Amino acid sequence: MRKQFAVIGNPIEQSRSPELHHAFAQKTGVILEYSKRLAPLDGFTQSINEFFKAGGIGLNVTVPFKEQAFAQCDVLTERAKIAKAVNTLWMKDGVLHGDNTDGQGLVAAIQHLNWPLEQASVLILGAGGATRGVIYPLHKAGVNKIMIANRTVARAEQLIQDLQPAVPDLELNACGLDHIAGEFDIVINATSASLSGDAITLPQQLKFKYAYEMAYGKPSTFLDQAKQRGIPTAEGFGMLVGQAIESFAIWNGVRPELKDFI
Ligand code: ATR
Repeated sequence: MRKQFAVIGNPIEQSRSPELHHAFAQKTGVILEYSKRLAPLDGFTQSINEFFKAGGIGLNVTVPFKEQAFAQCDVLTERAKIAKAVNTLWMKDGVLHGDNTDGQGLVAAIQHLNWPLEQASVLILGAGGATRGVIYPLHKAGVNKIMIANRTVARAEQLIQDLQPAVPDLELNACGLDHIAGEFDIVINATSASLSGDAITLPQQLKFKYAYEMAYGKPSTFLDQAKQRGIPTAEGFGMLVGQAIESFAIWNGVRPELKDFI
């Protein structure tokens, strides 16, 4: 039987993970099957138990189960502990392991674009799970200043309180989305605004060199404004491929190259 993998979420139809993992498998010669699993909103634990009982090797976890997956693991990687969310699961000797590859996916995508991260100062819009997952990997990749701007400032402040102990050398600050100002190397839109069709307005006095939108395949007022300024931009497909490569490497011990898939 082929090695079995799946992505689990609700909804799940939109997921592009199966096509990516099958493409990686073809390129690297790994023989596997990767499917989509729809778990009922109250049935995540049962669904992953069934998957591993049936001999499944690894699972990717997507919305809305990443925090539940985190709570379920016996062993967690450092970056998953810090993110408090898990997108990659595997069972080893009856022990459930969890990792979070989203942040490294973003780092790999940005490095592929040749945007400098060493000593960089980064502005992240949004303070939800997406932001939480990328701070530690960005810092490990050399970023030394991050400003988190959120519509609800208190949520950004809470995030900093939670994360600062894990990244003592990182200069982390919070502000309101309507109070952003100053100069940054990279601005990352980690809000869900583009997904829900909402607009983000960047003030003219905000200066930046590169703009990354985590969403992909959606109109983005954030990217439109960066493009109007003639700034290099990218959207989240590279991050998606990056996190998938990282999961594939954990499970199969072979690392596909990002440049072959974006
Ligand atoms: P995710 O896991 O994708 O980060 P989330 O935890 O629901 O999702 O967080 C969504 C983020 O997008 C939050 O930072 C949210 O701001 P609030 O904390 O103020 O709610 C932000 N967001 C969503 N819609 C937005 C909009 N229309 N304008 C600005 N920020 C928005």
